[in-house]
Amino acid sequence: AFKPLVFSGVQPTGNLHLGNYLGAIKKFVALQDQSDCIYCVVDLHSLTAQLVHDDLADQTRSITAAFLASGIDPKKHIVFNQSRVMQHAELAWIFNCVARIGWMNKMTQFKDKAGKDRENASLGLLAYPSLMAADILLYRATHVPVGEDQKQHLELTRDIAQKFNNDFSDRIAALGVGVEMQVGEETVNGYFPITEPVIGGPAARIMSLRDGSKKMSKSDPSDLSRINLTDDADTISKKIRKAKTDPEALPGEVDGLASRPEAENLVGIYAGLAEISKADVLKEFGGQQFSVFKPALADLAVEKLAPIAGEMRRIEGDRAYVDAVLKDGGERAGALAESTMRTVRDIIGL
Ligand code: ADP
Ligand code: NA
Repeated sequence: AFKPLVFSGVQPTGNLHLGNYLGAIKKFVALQDQSDCIYCVVDLHSLTAQLVHDDLADQTRSITAAFLASGIDPKKHIVFNQSRVMQHAELAWIFNCVARIGWMNKMTQFKDKAGKDRENASLGLLAYPSLMAADILLYRATHVPVGEDQKQHLELTRDIAQKFNNDFSDRIAALGVGVEMQVGEETVNGYFPITEPVIGGPAARIMSLRDGSKKMSKSDPSDLSRINLTDDADTISKKIRKAKTDPEALPGEVDGLASRPEAENLVGIYAGLAEISKADVLKEFGGQQFSVFKPALADLAVEKLAPIAGEMRRIEGDRAYVDAVLKDGGERAGALAESTMRTVRDIIGL
């Protein structure tokens, strides 16, 4: 079986928000005690959103500082940025030749981001999931903590690994580089693991504070729609006070949130920050109005986020340290990546 290894990435595009923190980064921190982890600032991915940047390197440093400020240990684990390890692009190209266009066309993120003028979207945006599969499989990672929105991309990563393992099964056997693994009921053999997503908990999908039908996102034009990791206490309180809600009191049971997306979202945020279930939040606040719940949520958010923001500013100020972390992480990631690619080139016959 494969040794457990965690991989995940965050794009250096705009401010990190509460959805990124609760859906992803907080999980990155929690997984550190159980497994070896590789956390990557995926700067190559960010080119699909914006090709010309004037501050890409600073954005990369800022995400790195957020990882470190949240508690990721760059000595025990690996923190680096994707473009430093060219093997990501090399494996992505091979996966472009493994994956089918039909698979990519089905991706809801591509449809959302490409909009109506799909013919004019970049080829990179279409191939985004292939690069993501390369990020993960380059380290033969077994577990990937992400928000709910990445679920479909992780299924595609599994499909790519499976197709590669099948297409090259004879070569993999001849070279003796296959590993036996359990996939559901079946025992299969392959060079790449069939990666497990780590998604779930009350905060797997944090919604916009202004519209309960849209996810909280870096690209939402309304700053009131999201809480940024670097917002100060007054801004956090204001955004929660202005968050869209309905006029009803909070229900006593989770079932009562069913058709109340805005209420459910705020309860989920509270649960994620407090590390309790939604049911436990409702035990405490069921029957209360938002005029009581919102200030409590604002206090909790400030209590949890302010220390991270302060630490992030301190770390960002020490540019030499951040650059040294990325350099060291890049060297260690690069060695692992090259070892995988040597085998992949052998398998393919390159
Ligand atoms: P964004 O989606 O904000 O542009 P990224 O694509 O870099 O950011 O995502 C970084 C991580 O944050 C991913 O694991 C993603 O699933 C997670 N994430 C993004 N938005 C949310 C959200 N609203 N709720 C929960 N997790 C989220
Ligand atoms: Na995303």
